[in-house]
Amino acid sequence: MKERCTKRLRIILSNLPSNLKGLNVLDLGCNVGYFCFELAKRGAKVTGIEERPDLIVIARKVNEIYDLDIKFILATLSSDSISDLDQRYDVVIYLSLHHHIIKTQGLEESRKILNNLSRIGQTMFFEMGQTNEGKNFSLDWATRIPDMGDRPKEWMREEVLIHSEFNSVVVCGATKSHGVDRFLFKCERSRLKQKLIQVVQK
Ligand SMILES: C[S@@+](CC[C@H](N)C(=O)[O-])C[C@H]1O[C@@H](n2cnc3c(N)ncnc32)[C@H](O)[C@@H]1O
Repeated sequence: MKERCTKRLRIILSNLPSNLKGLNVLDLGCNVGYFCFELAKRGAKVTGIEERPDLIVIARKVNEIYDLDIKFILATLSSDSISDLDQRYDVVIYLSLHHHIIKTQGLEESRKILNNLSRIGQTMFFEMGQTNEGKNFSLDWATRIPDMGDRPKEWMREEVLIHSEFNSVVVCGATKSHGVDRFLFKCERSRLKQKLIQVVQK
């Protein structure tokens, strides 16, 4: 697990400017805050959202020890809770959570979440559990999300493109999960499109 975290961090960092100062980052399902800490240590202004109180307690403690200024919010991600965020983010980290959202809140709600995230974030790093991971492993969630067949990469790419305002969705790396490649996507929206949406929303 640790190895997958460091590898994903490396992929994300290689897709960001070397100086993260001034970058507003939102990490969803942040767990004990691994990505939050690594990005905040490099100068980003980070907010982490996690629904498990025990994990938030640990994250806040480590935040104190590192003397960082990360905002850890105890909340359950949903399309409504995203609408409550009044800020815009340069980077949204949305890793290994979407399949849980589909399982617990349904496909329609998961699509609303993708759409709302593309409205508050300029760039999103996205990965999710893939149904091909369930081929040789018994994974509860893999039977509760739509079957991606033998083209998980294309399935996820289309899902984000169709159900969000991101107009560039490209694989920027992959890590091994349950014996297969779990793809990591960089999703972006053109600045012009973002401006237009802000104008329409006003
Ligand atoms: C599989 S872990 C992924 C952790 C981290 N994002 C990563 O990729 O290493 C999913 C995390 O999301 C949290 N979570 C699950 N559903 C959530 C929701 N609806 N809102 C916020 N956090 C949620 C879980 O408690 C867990 O910490």
